[in-house]
Amino acid sequence: GLTWAPAVPPSDLEEFGVAAATVGGLKVALYAVDGAYYATADLCTHGQASLADGFLDGELIECPLHQGTFNVKTGAAVGAPCSVAVRTFPVKLEGGLLHVGLP
Ligand code: FES
Repeated sequence: GLTWAPAVPPSDLEEFGVAAATVGGLKVALYAVDGAYYATADLCTHGQASLADGFLDGELIECPLHQGTFNVKTGAAVGAPCSVAVRTFPVKLEGGLLHVGLP
């Protein structure tokens, strides 16, 4: 089963729709899209960039380094130069904190 690791309060996502957190030693990016929450690995699959520093446009996160894009719901790489999907994790809100589900 999943281990639910506490991450950040939803208010951290209010300004930009995205925030970084470290859960279980793993750096993740959390996203708010239309009132629902999603998480991916924070590291871009194209290079050494933090997706949490990127620009969230709807359900797409744009990498700050070369402007490749991923769908935050599926992890799919949807915009060049990204071609490899980023890992996704389930998110739940409990006790006022977003929790990330780790395998
Ligand atoms: Fe993210 Fe190149 S490092 S698009």
